[in-house]
Amino acid sequence: MEKPVIQVKDLYKIYMIGTNKVRALNGVDFSIRKGEFCCIVGTSGSGKSTLLNMMAGLEKPTKGQIIIAGEHIEKKNESQLVNFRQAHVGFIFQSYNLMQNMTAIENVAMPLTFQGVSKAEREARAIKMLKLVGLKKYMKHRPGQMSGGQQQRVGIARALVVNPEIVFADEPTGNLDSNTTMEVLRLIQKISHEQNQTMVMVTHDNHLASFGDRIIHISDGKILKIEDNRERAEKNAAEAEAAKEKPVEAAADETAETKPGGTASAETAETKPQEPEIPQIVVPEYDPMKIAAEKEKKEEDNPAGEAKGMTEYTGGEHNEENS
Ligand SMILES: Nc1ncnc2c1ncn2[C@@H]1O[C@H](COP(=O)(O)OP(=O)(O)OP(=O)(O)O)[C@@H](O)[C@H]1O
Ligand SMILES: [Mg+2]
Repeated sequence: MEKPVIQVKDLYKIYMIGTNKVRALNGVDFSIRKGEFCCIVGTSGSGKSTLLNMMAGLEKPTKGQIIIAGEHIEKKNESQLVNFRQAHVGFIFQSYNLMQNMTAIENVAMPLTFQGVSKAEREARAIKMLKLVGLKKYMKHRPGQMSGGQQQRVGIARALVVNPEIVFADEPTGNLDSNTTMEVLRLIQKISHEQNQTMVMVTHDNHLASFGDRIIHISDGKILKIEDNRERAEKNAAEAEAAKEKPVEAAADETAETKPGGTASAETAETKPQEPEIPQIVVPEYDPMKIAAEKEKKEEDNPAGEAKGMTEYTGGEHNEENS
């Protein structure tokens, strides 16, 4: 059994609204092991996004500890957090947050600009990731020329391109129909298992959470229970596989070249009808990718050599407690 990559200890987040205390997180403890696909599930307002944002170093806890890869996140200042996020964390957003004027390759390559990776290598790594998610045919497409599921695969490729310790996903299928939701969910699950990639996904949907190796149930800022769900996750995956009628275009044609590091694109066509989609209105307020891309774009218009993009971007509104 792998050792924990994330440890959360006695974590609190209390917001003051006037004189009212909102206990978004009210004493939370758990750990997540390397390579685990962990789902955090709870109703709206239960504290899921707060918890995810804190683990990702986007918000400061009121109290408690978050230890990721041996480092105490809660002790870091903003510029240390920026470095930490770049080195250890990938994000998948509900609304994809792709740059509309960039191709899939450019979108996926973008986070690498912050690591000082050369243009040729950025492109090569982006292409490899796009193949991994079954988008070989869509590399030169812009988001507007892709379906929601394809766009989210670009989002997944972009999260993985920096080879992060952990990928955080907040309702990554919230904007997708039920079939596409299963496709994207299975892709996340497969990547986690085949690449030994730690994934932490937030969802309000118990069925989606049941694909996770571990399920953390949260309610009113507290953990109700933590389930070891590996057996059921495997069973669900097998059933989803069996329910597949035929492979979809994006996955089936493109598996031959997706070998490096294991393929995750072969099985993405779940066709079994699921429960009706519940529309989500949650839009991530903080968008490091967009900020990064805008910066990148500006610098591309006004080139200043390969070192561009190395400057830090700031966290903005989530750091209200950061003095
Ligand atoms: N910046 C903030 N200021 C004050 N209260 C907040 C803030 N962010 C979140 N909250 C409150 O904290 C609680 C948890 O919010 P959170 O966004 O984590 O819920 P969630 O489980 O992600 O919900 P959803 O499924 O709707 O996205 C809610 O009561 C919310 O109103
Ligand atoms: Mg939320």
